[in-house]
Amino acid sequence: RPVHPEPSGRPDASSKLELVQRPRRNRKSEWARQLLRENTLTVADLIWPIFVKDGHGERTAIGSMPGVDRLSVDEAVREAERAARLGIPALALFPYTDPALRSADGREALNSGNLVCRTLRAIKDAVPEIGLITDVALDPYTSHGHDGLLDTQGRILNDETVAVLVEQALVQAEAGADVIAPSDMMDGRVGAIRRALDGEGFHDAQILAYSAKYASAFYGPFRDAVGSTGCLKGDKRTYQMDPANGMEALREAALDIEEGADMLMVKPGLPYLDIVYRLKETFGLPTFAYQVSGEYAMIEAAARNGWLDGDKAMMESLMAFKRAGADGILTYFAPRVAEKLAREG
Ligand code: PBG
Repeated sequence: RPVHPEPSGRPDASSKLELVQRPRRNRKSEWARQLLRENTLTVADLIWPIFVKDGHGERTAIGSMPGVDRLSVDEAVREAERAARLGIPALALFPYTDPALRSADGREALNSGNLVCRTLRAIKDAVPEIGLITDVALDPYTSHGHDGLLDTQGRILNDETVAVLVEQALVQAEAGADVIAPSDMMDGRVGAIRRALDGEGFHDAQILAYSAKYASAFYGPFRDAVGSTGCLKGDKRTYQMDPANGMEALREAALDIEEGADMLMVKPGLPYLDIVYRLKETFGLPTFAYQVSGEYAMIEAAARNGWLDGDKAMMESLMAFKRAGADGILTYFAPRVAEKLAREG
């Protein structure tokens, strides 16, 4: 029997279930939903990853990341100014290295005049209040696209790579990086970098360890953006983690903390929310999630096809990170979210 309100406006009590608990009562109106909301997303939760490329006054589109451009250093400074105006606390810098400067040993990573170092100096000069995070890994600089050095059989050498990563971290700290973020997944790199930073007087340089970084298909567009797609030989499964593993992430994080990590990162983001939750619950350290290039591309592709509401999907995905316990999110959506939050509160 269909339920119609009585003419008095009062529902027919006899047709009602006898429920003591009706969770929907708390969702009945916008004010109630606002009042009872458990998590919030603010501009202070955002880290904006940007791609830099040589040139002046230039922005080049990245095919697989619609809406994201590679920026020349001056354009990166402009975007840093915009980020600061919007209240975004920090940027993460990634270089598209001229192919002529890539080599088997990735030595351009150690050049104190390389693209990342020039960008660091230029942004620090113009926008000293914004936090700058740099990636420690060799892949944007190697001709083979791997994060480390290879032996003659093409295996990635751990300890030899760590020695180079330490130098790379020092070069970045020297150029003004506030946060050093090793994304290479070599064993022992956090400890080695911490000792070297302290040895050179960079006691305040923070380490954001990509503790749980998985060998993921979701990095595809990023490799496009930094120009390593074509050159990558094989895959990264001997150093990045197996997507099937969860306990191993706890072990990686525990080691990074013992070695001196100040903050942890999980990457990719949305498919690994269980890992974000477990790391935060277990260690309680500041924990970040990286909504990676493939996650961005999926949402953008669907939105541009009219298959979902891009803005809503963007906000929902970011809120999911907060609910899982992330302290913040690295996301290519950062400026768009910041603008939306500024408009709508
Ligand atoms: C480099 C690095 C990668 C990403 C961040 N740092 C790619 C990779 O490991 O192959 C991916 C970020 C993204 O997909 O947005 N070590």
